[in-house]
Amino acid sequence: MMDWTDRHCRFLHRLLTRHSLLFTEMVNSGAIVHGDAERHLRFDDVEHPVALQLGGSDPAELAEACRIAESFGYDEINLNVGCPSDRVQSGRFGACLMAEPELVADCVRAMRDATDRPVTVKCRIGIDDQDTEESLDRFADTMVSAGVDALYVHARKAWLKGLSPKENRTIPPLDYPRVYRLGARLAPLPTMINGGIETLEAAAEHLGHMDGVMLGRAAYHNPMLLAEVDARFFGDTRAVPDLAAIMAAMADYAEAQQRQGARLNAIARHMLGLANGRPGARQFRQIMSVDACRPNAGPEVFARALDAVERTPLPAAV
Ligand SMILES: Cc1cc2nc3c(=O)[nH]c(=O)nc-3n(C[C@H](O)[C@H](O)[C@H](O)COP(=O)(O)O)c2cc1C
Repeated sequence: MMDWTDRHCRFLHRLLTRHSLLFTEMVNSGAIVHGDAERHLRFDDVEHPVALQLGGSDPAELAEACRIAESFGYDEINLNVGCPSDRVQSGRFGACLMAEPELVADCVRAMRDATDRPVTVKCRIGIDDQDTEESLDRFADTMVSAGVDALYVHARKAWLKGLSPKENRTIPPLDYPRVYRLGARLAPLPTMINGGIETLEAAAEHLGHMDGVMLGRAAYHNPMLLAEVDARFFGDTRAVPDLAAIMAAMADYAEAQQRQGARLNAIARHMLGLANGRPGARQFRQIMSVDACRPNAGPEVFARALDAVERTPLPAAV
C-alpha cells in the first residue's frame, strides 16, 4: 500500500505469518527501469514469498522491469489495474486501464515473456459507468487469453470522476457476489477477493467461494491478526512469537537497519497496532509514535513500549 507499507513492514508481518504472500506497494515500472532500482526493489530474504506490484502500461518497460525484478528474487509480479489516483491516471496506469483490456493484455504478455515468475493482475470490478457484469467478464477473459496466472479483485468499482483515492476505498459499494461469480466462471484460474475484509472469520467465509483472500487495511492497522493465519488457513500450528518476542526481534532488526542509515520511526510506524486490544495499548502507541521520532532514538524505545503493556494490569473481572 503506497505510502504505508515497505520492506520494514513486510519484515514485521513475516514474523507473524510464515505462509501468507506479502505484496510490495505499487512501484512504477519507469522508476525501476530509469531510476534507482536498488532503492525500490531491495528486500530481505526472510520476507519471501513476496509479490512485487508494478504500475505502468508500456509493455516494453514493464517487461524490462520484470527482468530486473526477477534478478532481485521476487516470487510473483503483479500489475496494478486498480489504483484510482489522479497522479496515476495521468500516466495512464492503475484503474483507468480497466477500460483498455487489450492494452493490459499486451502488458501481461510482455511481462510473461520476460519472466518465469507468475504474472498476476489486481483490478476492480469496474470503473465509472461500466456495467460490472459485462465489462468485468470481458476484462477477465482478455487477461486469461493473455496468460495471466491469477487475478486479485477489489470488490468495488473505482469512480475516477469525482472521488478522491481515499473515498474510492470506502464509497463505491462492495459487491462480493459479483467477485464470487467471476471466480466460479474463471475456475481453475486462481482468483482472490479483496476489499473491506476485517476479520479472519470473514476471510474464512470468503474462502468458501474464492481461492484466496487479500487483506489491506485490517492487516496494517491490526497486525496481530496475522498471527493466527498460519494455524487457521495453512495448517501450520507451530508457535507464533508473542508480543515480547516480536518486540525483541524488531529491536534487533531496527538496530541493524539503523546502522545502515534507517530512521527508527520508519520501522516503528508499522508497529503501532501491535498491542491493540490490550491494556496499555494507548501508551504503547504513544511511546512508539512519539519517542521513536526523537533524535538518537534507538530500539530501547521498543522495550519501553512493551513495558507499558506488561505493567498495565488487566481490568478486574466483574
Ligand atoms: C494507503 C493505501 C495505499 C494503497 N496502495 C495500494 C497499492 O499501492 N496497490 C494496490 O493494489 N492497492 C493499494 N491500496 C488498496 C488496497 O490494496 C486494497 O485494495 C484496499 O484498501 C481494499 O482492501 P482493504 O479493505 O482490505 O484495505 C492502497 C490502500 C491504502 C489504504
